[in-house]
Amino acid sequence: MPPAEPTLIDRFQRRITYLRLSVTDRCDLRCAYCMPREMVFLPRKDLLTLDELHRLALAFIDRGVRAIRLTGGEPLVRRDVMDLVTALGRHVGQQLDELTLTTNGTHLADKADALASAGVRRVNVSLDTLDRVRFTELTGADRLGAVLDGIAAARDAGLEVKLNVVALRDESSEGRRELIEWAHGHGHSVTLIEVMPMGEVAAGRADQFVPLTEVRRELETRWTLTPSTHRTGGPARYWHIAETGGRIGFITPLSDNFCAGCNRLRVTATGQLHPCLGGTEAVDLRAALRSGGGDQALASALETAMRIKPERHRFAISQGFESGPARHMSVTGG
Ligand code: 5AD
Ligand code: SF4
Repeated sequence: MPPAEPTLIDRFQRRITYLRLSVTDRCDLRCAYCMPREMVFLPRKDLLTLDELHRLALAFIDRGVRAIRLTGGEPLVRRDVMDLVTALGRHVGQQLDELTLTTNGTHLADKADALASAGVRRVNVSLDTLDRVRFTELTGADRLGAVLDGIAAARDAGLEVKLNVVALRDESSEGRRELIEWAHGHGHSVTLIEVMPMGEVAAGRADQFVPLTEVRRELETRWTLTPSTHRTGGPARYWHIAETGGRIGFITPLSDNFCAGCNRLRVTATGQLHPCLGGTEAVDLRAALRSGGGDQALASALETAMRIKPERHRFAISQGFESGPARHMSVTGG
């Protein structure tokens, strides 16, 4: 079925087919690269209602969006999130190729079956270490066991699991290899992500940041990596590891810009559309939804988004200097 509304194409002729929709800024973890321990969350009344999230998602689907990822914060801490998953899951295999979720996994054991029955086929689970003490230190919560149970439940439910690993300077190379080996041994692919300077956290970003070129070299001292032609439509570039038999993706916003192929938009839990993860541009979709201007108000907000989507992000990290938006990843939706 062709899209009912004009497709979303920006000034640089990039076609938007992918929406990342945050359903809450709240999270039960406090990952050191994501948010400060004393993070203040938004008042609940500011969040989009379930009905508004649904209306928004449909508006994007009408304009040719083929994949939706629900994010947070932690999407599974929002009480009514499964209703949204169920509603959007009905479009999978029709206007939507895919409905996915990025989760920290702590609630996945309870939800994996329901996600799979609703039409979700893949989940991204954020996991940076298999060491319980290190996990607790990094996330502020002793929840590694729950995450591993969640991953196992997802696999049992038939969901494909991809691990998102944020590369941190002070993580040991043994720890990284152990995680990758474990993931590949269980059939999960792994994506390493460079730390991005989004919002204030306790540590300096330059102390956290390690370029993935360096991590790759470190992995190559033990393993044979060959570039893979595998693509998922996102920014990751993949390599195959002969020794583990698995695939590893590298997301390099800082060390190797990939914006030319950008196909995505992000909407926060309060309905702010950010056309770029690393930019300050925003369009207030909540205001459009609540304006009484109906579909017309939303249509014109989306046209604005296409006009202001920047050519590329301006992230930068060096000793004593960081450049990135003031909002945290948990607000923007990862
Ligand atoms: N830089 C890079 N990745 C981050 N994430 C959260 N904050 C940051 C940051 N500042 C990751 C999470 C999750 C994904 C959505 O984003 O680990 O896997
Ligand atoms: Fe929560 Fe994800 Fe941020 Fe960690 S990275 S604190 S799991 S939102």
